[in-house]
Amino acid sequence: MDQDLPMPKYALILGATSDIARAVSQQFATHGYHLYLAGRNWEAIHAEASDLKIRFQVEAVPVRFDVLDFDSHAAIWNGLNPKPEVVVCVVGYMPEQEDSQKDLALARKVMDSNFTGCANFLNLVANDFEAQKTGSIIGVSSVAGDRGRAKNYLYGAAKAGFTAYLSGLRNRLSKSGIQVLTVKPGFVQTRMTEHLELKGALVATADQVGKDIWNGFRKKKNVIYTKGIWKYVMLVIRHIPERLFKKMNL
Ligand SMILES: NC(=O)c1ccc[n+]([C@@H]2O[C@H](COP(=O)([O-])OP(=O)(O)OC[C@H]3O[C@@H](n4cnc5c(N)ncnc54)[C@H](OP(=O)(O)O)[C@@H]3O)[C@@H](O)[C@H]2O)c1
Repeated sequence: MDQDLPMPKYALILGATSDIARAVSQQFATHGYHLYLAGRNWEAIHAEASDLKIRFQVEAVPVRFDVLDFDSHAAIWNGLNPKPEVVVCVVGYMPEQEDSQKDLALARKVMDSNFTGCANFLNLVANDFEAQKTGSIIGVSSVAGDRGRAKNYLYGAAKAGFTAYLSGLRNRLSKSGIQVLTVKPGFVQTRMTEHLELKGALVATADQVGKDIWNGFRKKKNVIYTKGIWKYVMLVIRHIPERLFKKMNL
């Protein structure tokens, strides 16, 4: 009988074309989840969906999504049937700090792409999950949000806002049994950082981050740093006194 069959489990990946998102999608697909792949690059989303279907024999449904189009968010969320059990927000945008300093519209785009747009969509998810008393929300923030640095503080401030948002959401939704996982990557080799020459023990691959996110989800963690060593790096950085910090070239 149909009613005896278990409901298929879906995960919604927001910003599904990123290198980190691809690694996360693969982790969920490996563990039997079907996927909603949401993003604005329709061609890339379709290619990713085809790849996942073939490699993992799961459903992979493309969803048009632009985090900056706030007014579209409710229709996108309400249009998902069945609703996902897990929502992972991987959306991010990091132009050069100097460009954002000079261009107010670009600075606002950084805020909206990394924080307010993501929060706007997750507000919808949170209300539904709270009513159902089930679900998991995973937000990819950044170590950049742990302390503002001259070289990256507009992006860092947006990520700090997102981190605080996720913290508040966790505080609210834990009473309803909802997991909210904050992910703070350090340096990761991806399209976002290809202009930087990243190497050494602090640098992760997208695949490592994907595995860490899956493990954090399965273990019902609240906050993870990836790589884990960043927890201690940022502990030190957060404790540098302001009088010294403002003299440093970070
Ligand atoms: N790489 C690092 O070192 C690092 C470190 C800390 C945190 N992070 C965070 O990790 C996440 C993934 O980044 P990544 O390194 O994998 O870089 P990425 O490939 O540049 O990922 C950014 C993702 O956000 C999507 N996006 C940007 N603006 C969007 C919009 N208006 N609407 C919908 N989607 C939008 C991009 O979609 P398109 O494909 O359409 O551009 C892409 O899928 C980001 O949140 C980033 O801030 C990365």
